[in-house]
Amino acid sequence: MRHATVHPRTLGYLGRALSLEYSAVQQYMTQAALAEAWGLKEAADRFRRETVEEMQHAERLVKRMLGLGVSPNASQLRPAGVARSLVDLLRQDQVLEAEIVALYDEATRFCRRIGDHENGEFFNGLLQDELHHAAEIETWLEALGVPRARPDERAYF
Ligand SMILES: [Fe+2]
Ligand SMILES: [Fe+2]
Repeated sequence: MRHATVHPRTLGYLGRALSLEYSAVQQYMTQAALAEAWGLKEAADRFRRETVEEMQHAERLVKRMLGLGVSPNASQLRPAGVARSLVDLLRQDQVLEAEIVALYDEATRFCRRIGDHENGEFFNGLLQDELHHAAEIETWLEALGVPRARPDERAYF
């Protein structure tokens, strides 16, 4: 059977990734509702689009897990934090996206190291999406007057 050849650590990465993607769905959905309540319609729409993208990531993980013969097993949904401003919300997103980037980066390297190219490419595809998200959040913060972090201060790249 196919799943017999998948390294247990790869399955662990998939489970952790699913927990983080569902957490991202909850976080962006909450932020869309907050932004709307603050009268920031454009920001609310943008957070809603992010919510959909994170749902699509979760769906990719669910399909991959089913394809490997395992049940989707997200176990830890972290609470969406409270914030008083749009900048605060985006800072929370920076933290979460950096964590997701770090996980996909580690998972990609691990799979490549053990010669599991199929799962390595799967994780790398998600990694590229999340690097893009992280860069978009930086650009958004910059547009709000928050200076871009120096490379040595960044949690990723
Ligand atoms: Fe995601
Ligand atoms: Fe993301």
